[in-house]
Amino acid sequence: MSTPAPTLSRKRILLGISGGIAAYKSADLVRRLKERGAEVQVVMTAGAQEFIRPLTFQALSGNPVHTDLLDPAAEAAMGHIELAKWAELILIAPASAQVLAKLAGGFADDLLSTLCLASEAKLALAPAMNQAMWRHPATAANVQTLATRGALLWGPAAGSQACGDVGPGRMLEPDTLAAEVEKLFRASPSLAGKQVVITAGPTREALDPVRFLSNHSSGKMGFALAAAARDAGAEVTLIAGPVNLATPAGVKRIDVTGALEMRDAAERAADLCDIFIGAAAVADFRPAQVAEQKIKKTADSDSDSLALVKNPDIVAGIAARRQRRPFTVGFAAETEKVLEHARDKLQRKNLDLIVANDVSAEDSGFNSDRNAVTVIDAAGSSALPAALKTELAAQLIALIAERAPVK
Ligand code: C5P
Repeated sequence: MSTPAPTLSRKRILLGISGGIAAYKSADLVRRLKERGAEVQVVMTAGAQEFIRPLTFQALSGNPVHTDLLDPAAEAAMGHIELAKWAELILIAPASAQVLAKLAGGFADDLLSTLCLASEAKLALAPAMNQAMWRHPATAANVQTLATRGALLWGPAAGSQACGDVGPGRMLEPDTLAAEVEKLFRASPSLAGKQVVITAGPTREALDPVRFLSNHSSGKMGFALAAAARDAGAEVTLIAGPVNLATPAGVKRIDVTGALEMRDAAERAADLCDIFIGAAAVADFRPAQVAEQKIKKTADSDSDSLALVKNPDIVAGIAARRQRRPFTVGFAAETEKVLEHARDKLQRKNLDLIVANDVSAEDSGFNSDRNAVTVIDAAGSSALPAALKTELAAQLIALIAERAPVK
């Protein structure tokens, strides 16, 4: 067998190994990373050492294996902060359900979790666990949290498991993981130096000091796009309606409430941007008047009516610019004739690209963690199959980066 090309020459990879039967495969992973020229430091959790001995990894990596947070001898050689700074990539393979939970919770009660908190390196996770544990909502929520913070998730694959179950939870093979690491170091960020503005979430249109009109948008898609654009090297401004989501690290967030406020923030931010993505579910109408005091029931009437005025179309306003017009992307959430309505919107709003999704589909659209969309522009359409919003966001950003003109 020929030696692979030194595609990872002198890349500094910290390999975290947690407790799981897949830990035996990590020995092979070290070899594959070393073969490609990488420098590898191995950190093992206590659980990992129950499955495989540190000596194996010491021999394969050519470096002492790190196992303790509070070992004075190890700290004297290379302290944990030094190790955290040394790494260009932290790859945890296998990443157990326990490790995912700890990282999502920000714990620092052993060496590996502490390193992850202390390091600014890219974090990649190769989960491995029983299929029921992988499917558990607690694990799904932890994965979602970590992905929103910018962690990469490689796998798991589905198949037969060491415990006899069949399903998702198998760690990716060492070869595949080494290829992912190569891809990561090869990829030049597609939106490096670009300014991206994204609107997200619902708007709230006040009726009086205590009531408003709004909708069920969760903001998840817009926030996932912001994280993906950041990962692609962009400087991102996220204009968010009222949502219950954490700001992706490194993203500038502007909180707004009503459509007019969102429009003003969007117009200001768009002056300097290359790409504008309208992912917000802006209320179409707002009450014609906002009462200064709480509106009282009229005792003698069983019905009442509300005068509404149309809100400005934010994304169409940006796309209508003659000067300083960014590449403008809109969304079309539809319940029927999805493509037809989306094409119509693309033209009517003068957008460069529209992302259409069927919000009536089960497990898709509003509030769901998953989505399936079709991307339409003047040249045609392409369907992206159902995926986690975080994964879909990365695909959408890659597609937008390809199509946005280079300025
Ligand atoms: O017309 P419709 O609301 O279906 O269009 C959806 C697209 O237009 C989304 O990109 C949304 O963010 C944007 N939009 C907007 N301002 C509005 C209404 C919609 O930016 N007032």
